[in-house]
Amino acid sequence: MIDKLQAHYGFTRMPFGRDLAPGMLHRHAAHNEAVARITWCVSERSIGVITGEVGAGKTVSVRTVLAGLDASRHVVIYLPNPMIGVRGIHETIVATFGVTPDRSGSRLAAQASAALAAERDERGRTPVLVIDEAHLLRYEQLENIRMLTNHNLDADSPLACLLVGQPTLRRTMKLAVLAAFEQRVALRYTMPPMTGPETASYVSHHLKLAGRSDTLYSDDAVSLIHTTARGYPRAVNNLALQALVAAYASGKATVDEQSARAAVTEITDT
Ligand SMILES: Nc1ncnc2c1ncn2[C@@H]1O[C@H](COP(=O)(O)OP(=O)(O)O)[C@@H](O)[C@H]1O
Ligand SMILES: [Mg+2]
Repeated sequence: MIDKLQAHYGFTRMPFGRDLAPGMLHRHAAHNEAVARITWCVSERSIGVITGEVGAGKTVSVRTVLAGLDASRHVVIYLPNPMIGVRGIHETIVATFGVTPDRSGSRLAAQASAALAAERDERGRTPVLVIDEAHLLRYEQLENIRMLTNHNLDADSPLACLLVGQPTLRRTMKLAVLAAFEQRVALRYTMPPMTGPETASYVSHHLKLAGRSDTLYSDDAVSLIHTTARGYPRAVNNLALQALVAAYASGKATVDEQSARAAVTEITDT
C-alpha cells in the first residue's frame, strides 16, 4: 500500500518521516532559536534547560547542535532516558571515558567528577552532558547533576550540561531545594509551537524532500492540520500523513480539507 501511495503521488520517498539528517531540517523560528541558544550554552560551558511540549522539536534541535560540534574539542555524553538512577548517570559518564566504575556509589560519583575535570584540564575537550526526557529526573539525580557541574567549588564549570524535557521540568527546577542549581542555569528556553505560516512552510518542506514541489495539500487542509496539531511538528507529521492516506484511499489527486478532517477523526478517536 505504501509503494502504491508513493507511486500515486510521485514521491521519491515517503514524506513526514522521522529520520531527517540535520541538514534537511525545517528552519522555523523555534528550531533556529533553540539551536542558537544551545550552541551558545555549549560554548560557554553553562547549564541549560530546554523545555517544550511533546513533539515540539527539542531532541531534533539538540541533536542538530551535537552533530555540528568539533569532535576534537568536545565529548558528548547523551542520556536518552534518565530512568537509570543516580548510579546509571555516573556509570554512563565514567564509561564514556573508559574508566571501570567503582562498586561504591560515593567513589563512583568521585570518579565521574574526576573524569569530567580531567577531560577538560588534560585533554582540553569540553564534556557536553545532555540529559533528554529530563522531566523524569528524580530529585536526588538533579542534586547529583548539580554536584557534577560545580566540581572543586570553583566558579568555572568543567562541562556544559543540557537538561531537555517537558514543561514540568521548569517547575521541578524551581523547588526550593534546587534553588542553588536553578540560580546557576544560564539558559532557559521553552520551545514554542510553529505559527500557521510556519506549519504551511513545514508541510511544503517535507513534501519537497519527498520529491513534490508543487501544491499537494489545499490551504484549508493545512490550516486544519495546524490547528489540530497546535503547531507542534510531530503532531503535524502524524496528521499530514494520515490525511495523505485518506486522500489516497478516496483516489484523490490532492489532499483536501475532507481528507484532513478524516485524519483528525482518525487520530483524535484513538
Ligand atoms: N526542524 C524540524 N524539521 C523537520 N522535522 C522536525 C523538526 N523538528 C521536529 N521535527 C519532527 O518532529 C518530530 C518530533 O521532534 P522531537 O525533537 O523528537 O520532539 P521532542 O523531543 O520535543 O518531543 C521529529 O521526529 C521530526 O520528525
Ligand atoms: Mg525528545
